[in-house]
Amino acid sequence: MSSMSPLIIALDYPSLDAALCMADQLDPARCRVKVGKELFTRSGPDVIEALHGRGFEVFLDLKFHDIPHTVAGAVQAAAEQGVWMVNVHASGGRRMMEAARERLDRQSLSTHLIAVTVLTSMSEGDLADVGLSGSPAEQVSRLASLAKDSGMDGVVCSAQEARGLRDLCGEDFLKVTPGIRPASALADDQRRVLTPGDAMSAGSTHLVVGRPVTQAADPMAALASIESELSG
Ligand code: C5P
Repeated sequence: MSSMSPLIIALDYPSLDAALCMADQLDPARCRVKVGKELFTRSGPDVIEALHGRGFEVFLDLKFHDIPHTVAGAVQAAAEQGVWMVNVHASGGRRMMEAARERLDRQSLSTHLIAVTVLTSMSEGDLADVGLSGSPAEQVSRLASLAKDSGMDGVVCSAQEARGLRDLCGEDFLKVTPGIRPASALADDQRRVLTPGDAMSAGSTHLVVGRPVTQAADPMAALASIESELSG
């Protein structure tokens, strides 16, 4: 069942205990979980081991970006901990992504390797500040194509981008989409949000959902309501 669910719940907590307290309220047969920089920096690999022990598949969202050799080593380290998915920044370039891909292949590690294209917090002005001309949308397309050519299994992207990327990179290229809000939920600090159903019809293959589930009075009920939006 877990391999079928598109839902990835973001465990954005500042401690191992808080993250596990939430994980214990979730069903690993009905979602995966995402561990990001704050939680991993505080808890280290213990959190991965504890989540695996509870039966969860883990997306380790550390967005590696460094010289090829260093990123290949970091990706290998993540994969050897058995994580289901790990990511890098596509802006690290072709050689960096290829080195990560080759390392996983050489070690026969089957962890999904995906790339971040342009952070959704970046505006056209922010891109110009770092010397990139053109719109974020153009940069997303360029980096998604580069990620695919460099052997990535997919990208993190907004649901608005997923539709275009399906045409550009194909159905099988993973499109992992945050910024999801059930029809009834608040947008929080997310600017561009889509409902789970709309995100899947736009071509997303996986949905990252944080606060609508983790801050619900009954997280599994919130998850169930997203499932019913998806099947309805
Ligand atoms: O609580 P919420 O559903 O907004 O959480 C979304 C998760 O996805 C967070 O972990 C956030 O860091 C992550 N994310 C995002 N937007 C991106 C990339 C990642 O919201 N562009």
